[in-house]
Amino acid sequence: MAKGLDVGTMNILSASQDGSETVFVQQRNSFVEIDYSDMAEQMLSRSDVLHIRKDDKVYVVGDDALNFANIFGKETRRPMQHGILSSEESSAIPMIKLIIEQVVGSPSRPNERLFYSSPADPIDSDLSTLYHDKTLESMLGDMGYDPEPINEGMAVIYSELADNNFTGLGVSFGAGMTNICLAYYAVPVMQFSIARGGDWIDQQTAQATGTAVDKVTSIKEDDFQLDFRTDVGGVEGALSIYYENLLDYVIENIEREVDEEDIEEGLDVPVVVTGGTSSPKGFEELFEHHLEDSTIPFSVNEVRSIDRPLYSVARGSLVAARSEEESGGSASEPEPEPEPEAEAAPESN
Ligand SMILES: Nc1ncnc2c1ncn2[C@@H]1O[C@H](COP(=O)(O)OP(=O)(O)O)[C@@H](O)[C@H]1O
Ligand SMILES: [Mg+2]
Repeated sequence: MAKGLDVGTMNILSASQDGSETVFVQQRNSFVEIDYSDMAEQMLSRSDVLHIRKDDKVYVVGDDALNFANIFGKETRRPMQHGILSSEESSAIPMIKLIIEQVVGSPSRPNERLFYSSPADPIDSDLSTLYHDKTLESMLGDMGYDPEPINEGMAVIYSELADNNFTGLGVSFGAGMTNICLAYYAVPVMQFSIARGGDWIDQQTAQATGTAVDKVTSIKEDDFQLDFRTDVGGVEGALSIYYENLLDYVIENIEREVDEEDIEEGLDVPVVVTGGTSSPKGFEELFEHHLEDSTIPFSVNEVRSIDRPLYSVARGSLVAARSEEESGGSASEPEPEPEPEAEAAPESN
C-alpha cells in the first residue's frame, strides 16, 4: 500500500486506499497554548483530544484547538505560514508532527511509500521551500515511511485530470499560497507558487473594513457568494474585491511565467481550480471571466471546479504514490483511480 499527504497551511489531510474507496483523514493545522492550572483534567480525558503537556502548559492541537481557544479566550497559532513551516513559531515542529502522526497513522508495513505535497518556490517572495521539505522528509522517515515530495500543483493534475491524459493547468487556491502547474502528459512544463491565498484575502478585508480577521474568515466560509450584487462597504463587498484582485494577480503571473517558459503554441487545455479558497459559489465563473480577458498564449477549453476542493491534493498525492508503487519504482503515467470515495473524518467545513 501507499499513502498521500497534503500538508497545507490551514488543513492537513491524508489519503489512503481501502478496497475501491479512498479514505481521507483531516485535521486543522493549528494549536492553542493553555495554562495547565486553568484546565480541568476531564477536559483532556476525552481520548481523542490531541494534546501535548509540557511543564505547566497544555497544547491542544488540530481540530479541537479552536474550541479550546474559544472556551479559554485564547488565540490559535499555526505551525505554518505562506505554505511552509513558520519561522516565527518556535513550537511549529512538535505541533505539526503530532498532527501529521494522527492524520497518517502508522505505516502498514516498514518503509511504506508516502507522497507528501510540497509547494513550488513562490515567485513573489524570497521564501524557500527547501527547509520545509527536508524537515517533513525526516519527520516522516522517523515515523517509518519512505517519503517523497510531490509538487502541489502536479498533485492536482494527478487528482483531477486523469480523464485528459494528465494534461492541463491545475491551480490550487489554499490558505497560505496558490500553487500553479501546467502539465503535458503527466510531465510538468511549468510550476510555481505565489505567496497569497485565502489568508491574504482575509487580512486585506479585515484591514479595509476594520473587522477582526477571525470574523472575516467565518463570514467568508459561511455562505459567502461571489455575485457582486450586495454589500458595498461591508465585509462581503470587500471580500469580493480581494477575491477578484487575487484572481487577477494569479492570472498575471501565469501570463508572465508562460512567456518565460516558452510554452508550445497552439496548446488547448482544461483548467482545474481547487483548494479551499475556490469554494465560494461563483468562483469558477469569475476565474473563467478573467481568463477570457487575459493574454495567455494558449487556449483554455474548459474551467472545472471540484466538488470536494479540500481533497484534491491528498488524493493526487495518493494517485502518484500508488502509480509509482505499481510500476515498481519508476515514474509512469498513473491510472485513473476508482470511485467512489468514503470519508473517515467528518469534513470540518
Ligand atoms: N466554504 C468556504 N468558502 C470560502 N473559503 C473557504 C471555505 N472553506 C475553506 N475556505 C478557505 O480555504 C482556505 C483553506 O483551504 P486549503 O485548501 O485547506 O488551504 P491549505 O492547503 O493552505 O491548508 C482558507 O483560507 C479557508 O478560509
Ligand atoms: Mg492544501
